[in-house]
Amino acid sequence: MDLAELRADFLRPSELAHLARFPALVDLPVILTLRRPEDGGQWRGAEADRRRLLRAALGPGGRPYAFLDLEHDLADAELEGAARARGCRLIRSYHNFRGVPPGLAARMRRMARAAGARGDLPKAAVRVRGSRDQRRLAEAFRELEGVEKILLGMGEYGSFSSILAGKLGSWLTYSWPGRRPASPGFAPPSEAQLNPRTLLELYRFRRIGPDTAVYGVVGHPIAHSRSPHLHNPGFAALGLDAVYVPFLADRLPAFLRAAEALGVRGLSVTVPFKQQALRLALRAGLQAAKGGAQPGGAGLHPGGESPLLSAAGAEALAVGAANTLIAEGAGGRRWRAANTDVAGFLAPLEREAPAVLQPGTEATVLGAGGAARAVVHALTRQGLNVLVLNRTPARARALAHRFGCAWGGLDTQGAARLPDYSALIVQTTTVGLDGAGDPLPGYRFRGEEIVYDLVYGPEPTPFLLRARAAGCRTIAGEEMLRAQASEQFRLYTGRDLPDLRQ
Ligand code: ATR
Repeated sequence: MDLAELRADFLRPSELAHLARFPALVDLPVILTLRRPEDGGQWRGAEADRRRLLRAALGPGGRPYAFLDLEHDLADAELEGAARARGCRLIRSYHNFRGVPPGLAARMRRMARAAGARGDLPKAAVRVRGSRDQRRLAEAFRELEGVEKILLGMGEYGSFSSILAGKLGSWLTYSWPGRRPASPGFAPPSEAQLNPRTLLELYRFRRIGPDTAVYGVVGHPIAHSRSPHLHNPGFAALGLDAVYVPFLADRLPAFLRAAEALGVRGLSVTVPFKQQALRLALRAGLQAAKGGAQPGGAGLHPGGESPLLSAAGAEALAVGAANTLIAEGAGGRRWRAANTDVAGFLAPLEREAPAVLQPGTEATVLGAGGAARAVVHALTRQGLNVLVLNRTPARARALAHRFGCAWGGLDTQGAARLPDYSALIVQTTTVGLDGAGDPLPGYRFRGEEIVYDLVYGPEPTPFLLRARAAGCRTIAGEEMLRAQASEQFRLYTGRDLPDLRQ
């Protein structure tokens, strides 16, 4: 059911005189809210005037408000009586802008008991400041299963609670099409992400229920992630009851506890958590093995799991990083680490330029960060001779030593060695992410190189454009993004990710 909320505290004084007429102007049941400042509202007048306006708004005649949002600590028998007389249900709301308080579930239970006796709806809106708060909020949702309530986490860390309202049993959630957040502290990941259209079309909000399988991507930052735009349409095309949610996190261990409480089944892991994700999964697996329970964690599983997952688990160990975590067991208390970056990197090459993957081919990798590790692992395993060039030469050396490659700086000297390793050039630095910059301006393409840039965006990077202009065959980062997402989708669902590109 759709509702409209009138935030009367945002109105001009001249408009406030006409509150009673508003419900007749809209085609939806309306919630009336005139929020005082201590609860994040814009109302600056006297409390007595606020209540007088609310009473007037509930006055006889015309179409009544369907709901009146009143702060949980407000006792005003006259106002409450006026609302009930008009068939207007009360929402009793509690706000906390400082964070998710301990004991939120107990507080909510008390509110629910008091509210329930009168047919009211209890509501809590709490600011989620980071992953510890995410854990508290997720655990509160779990403890409050079956309790009729409105519960939502404010801020980007809490946006999952809006998307998953139907799964977590929040009676409603709030969304708005405008640019300005309707309530201070309630800033979604980006305006575009949680506007009503995105909720309905990307996340299929109306279809999310208690049985919906939850997947997501965890990182910091996360708002720019393209993964929800790949996985959610895939679920929709296959008619799967599943949703894929972006999770901003600041501490991976606390976030994973939150994810367990939410019943998340699988996670894509991105910057900066890929290495830690592998470590945590390994540690949990070791502890489980010591405790005599079913061992889990990449490479520690004795068998019985899907061959796909054990192969991707072995990749995670080889790369030293996981881009995927799969929840294991009923409560999802443990995570299996996997890496689909390797397969995702290789797939476009196998499709577009398989000849370059012959043993002995000379290749250069620009960069020595997390993405470069997966690339260098993939190439050296295929038997290519690899040169690693990086702005910080010590990092190039460390990576090259691990995988037995040549190395150098991302400078004139390093570039001078490049012609000997130029059948394939893979660009893994972050240069070009913002649509500008060239990691190797001094290098002149001969036109024979295969050039693969991992940076993805709506436009090819300047580096890729320059290579293309010189006649090189090029592969854009979008290809790898899709390919690694397809591998993840297979791990999540056992199905192929449908290619929905026009
Ligand atoms: P990712 O996981 O995406 O690879 P990362 O681990 O932070 O991210 O690695 C970023 C890579 O981009 C590194 O190789 C980094 O070089 P340094 O090791 O010298 O930091 C490279 N990089 C980032 N900004 C760069 C710039 N302006 N010029 C050249 N290389 C840059």
